[in-house]
Formats: sequence, C-alpha cells, structure tokens
Amino acid sequence: MAVRGEGVYVWDADGNRYLDFSASAVVNFIGHGVREISDAMAEQARQLEFVHSSQFTTPVAEQFARELLEFAGEHFQGGAVFFTCGGSESVETALKLARQYQVEIGQPGRYQVLSREQSYHGATLGALAASGNRKRREMYLPMVREFAHIGMPFCYRCAFDCTDSCATCGLQYAAELETAIEAAKGAVAGFMFEPMSGATLGAVTPPPGYLNAIAEICRRHDVLLIADEVMTGMGRTGQNFAVDHWQVAPDILVAAKGLSSGYAPLGAVIATKKVIDAIAEGSGALLHGFTYNAHPISVAAGHAVLRRIQAQKLVQAADSNKVGTVASALKSALETLRGLDAVGDVRGLGLLWAVEFVADKRTKAPFAARKNFAGLVGQACLRRGVLVYPMQGSVDGISGDHVLVAPPAVITAEQIGWAVEQLRAAIEKTVKNF
Ligand SMILES: Cc1ncc(COP(=O)(O)O)c(C=O)c1O
Repeated sequence: MAVRGEGVYVWDADGNRYLDFSASAVVNFIGHGVREISDAMAEQARQLEFVHSSQFTTPVAEQFARELLEFAGEHFQGGAVFFTCGGSESVETALKLARQYQVEIGQPGRYQVLSREQSYHGATLGALAASGNRKRREMYLPMVREFAHIGMPFCYRCAFDCTDSCATCGLQYAAELETAIEAAKGAVAGFMFEPMSGATLGAVTPPPGYLNAIAEICRRHDVLLIADEVMTGMGRTGQNFAVDHWQVAPDILVAAKGLSSGYAPLGAVIATKKVIDAIAEGSGALLHGFTYNAHPISVAAGHAVLRRIQAQKLVQAADSNKVGTVASALKSALETLRGLDAVGDVRGLGLLWAVEFVADKRTKAPFAARKNFAGLVGQACLRRGVLVYPMQGSVDGISGDHVLVAPPAVITAEQIGWAVEQLRAAIEKTVKNF
C-alpha cells in the first residue's frame, strides 16, 4: 500500500522507501510530491471544477493547448489539441480523427489504420486492434477489427540477419508499409507507430532512415502519420517528442503519461493545421467526445507540469547524448550490466532504457516464458527498495524477458549508481535461485 511520494521516492504504509526507477509505468517525469502541481489543481478545483466541452472551454485548457502546440514544434503551428483522460482514450481519438479527416476531404473509402507487430497502443478495443502486443490482445481478438500490422525493426533480434548494425535494413522494414498500403487498395486512413518501442520490445530505437522512409511513404499515399508518444513524449527521450530525434513530422501526435506526470488522468491528441482545417472547413466539429474531455483539474495539472519541465530544464536533463546529464549517467551505469551472463542487451535513449535477459548470451536464446525471469528480477528489485517495470514477449510476443528503467528526470547520479547496483544484485540473485 503506497501512502506518500517525494522526489524519486515512494513510501509504503509500513514506512518502507522505494526508489521509483521506472516512474511506475513510465509516467512520472518531474518527481513525486511537487507542491506547485497540487496547488495548481486545488486552485482550479476551487475556481471551477468542471464544465462540459459541449458548452464551454476554459482559460486553462486554452492556455495549455497553446503552450503544448508550441512545445510540439513549429510543424504544429495553427493546429489544435484535444484533451482526454489518458493514453488509450487519446489513441481512440486519434483513430477516429484520422477517419473523419479522410471523410472530410472526400475520401470516405479510407478507414483502416495500419500499425506494427510488437507495439502497444492501449487497452480499449480500438487501441488494442492497433496494438501488436500478442499477450495483451490475444483473448480479445474475436472482438477487434483487424487491419494489417507490419514488422517492427529490432536490431538486437533483426529479422534480416544484417551484418551492418542495421544501417540499411530499416528501408526493408519500411517497404512493408508500402506493400500493406497498396494491398489495402485505397482504404488506408492512417499509420500509427511508437517512435521507440515502449513496453512491448523495451526501449528499442529505430534504425537509421527508417522513420523518414515511413513518413515519406505515408505522404506519398495520402495516409496520415500518427505518432503514439504516450510513453516517449514530453521530454522522456531527451527531446520534447521522440520524433524530433529523427526530424519526422507526424500529422497527429498522441501524448499522455508524462503529460501530467501522473498528477491527474490526462492525455492529449495534438493535430496539425492540415487535419484541423479539413474538419473546420468541412462539417465543423469532431464527431467524438468523452464527458471528461479537457477536465479543468487535469488540464491545470498538465499545465503546471509543463511549466515545471521547462523551468527545471528537464528535457535537457533527459538527454543521454549530452555529457554530464543524469540521462548520460544512467546510460553509462546500465551499460556496466552487459558484463553479466544473463544480460543480453542494454538499449534505450534519454531516460527510457531496457535491460534484456537471455538464457544463452551467444545464441540470444530466451528463458522459458513460464519461468517469468523478468518478473522475478522485478520482485528482487522491490525487496531491495527499487521499482522497475518487468515485461515479457520481446522474442515472439510470449517469450523474451526485459525490465524497463525510466526514472523521473530529477534523479541524481548518486541515486542512479545505487539503483543500478541493486538491479545488478537482483539479477545475480535471480540467476542463483533460478
Ligand atoms: C505507447 C503507448 N500507447 C498507449 C498506451 C495506453 O495508455 P493508457 O494506459 O494511459 O491508457 C500506453 C500505455 O502504456 C503506451 O505505452
């Protein structure tokens, strides 16, 4: 039972302290217990707790939307933001927005949203249909509408067996998108992707040229490019949004998690002027909504969080390519785990990292899935006062074990050093008892 949070720490009801080395599920970016966020929420609650978006907007929603569009970059100038209560709601909104855009521009035959295997876009049925995460979707498959899922580049386990560190295979993966779009015969409305694979594969970055090729294919086929940055957005990878690392300009950006750092349920769909104009000049309104769109208290939390991110230069702190940042300290510390027999790969960017475990380092053979190696490492970490995010399925959706490491950006180099030593000890202990 968790009762209190401060900085990178969470305390349970028995007084035990845990270092939140994964920001729970990659949520908290600014640290726990920041007074100015709860003050902003309380002030908003006192002033006006709620109005329905069919009747009113609010100053805080308008102001935050303006600041968020600016944060998303020049490409989103003149665009608009739709606030929701989280990642899945935002993904559902993006799917419907892509469909409505196509109808508004006179393309009613376009309704499919393509996506990738080994991806995760959320728990609701539309988001689950777009997801490729086998374990999370298998039971619900009879209930979801299936569109094509293309392969996901994953250099550690590259399907093309390339010998050039994946310098060229990205284009082969991207070609799968063109094939799928052509096979759908003009029915594709959009393509949804995580710029970095989040939980499913574990902090996998795309190979050179891949995302640019994907963007170019979408543009050429009039397919909207939808970047799901629920996990990677709002500074987590050391850029405002992860697509900025590869100079890719999506038509629609989806954010949640770090958007409010967990202080309130909040998600956002950020759309370009092109998309918004099509609706404004067409039917005039998005045919979609939730009661709690742009909830004033959640929006106040997000607004205060963005100001905190900027005032404390937390995006810069999360830049693992810059010497002296906590993100570069995290990268160096995690790299030392490569020496362990059970560690097959250490990968990531910014403050989003994964450690993948293998039974055989040379063949990259995974542990038997039923033995839940990652879960056992997670439990061993917990006993040592460190929270990580264990996952399985990186090999084939079922087997393959990794833990995600993604601390709040206010972590210090000393705290990183201590937490990585606990993780090392947890891995060694798990191997010993296995
Ligand atoms: C990339 C991505 N998209 C969507 C979601 C769904 O977000 P939520 O759990 O807030 O509904 C997640 C959650 O982990 C995610 O990582």
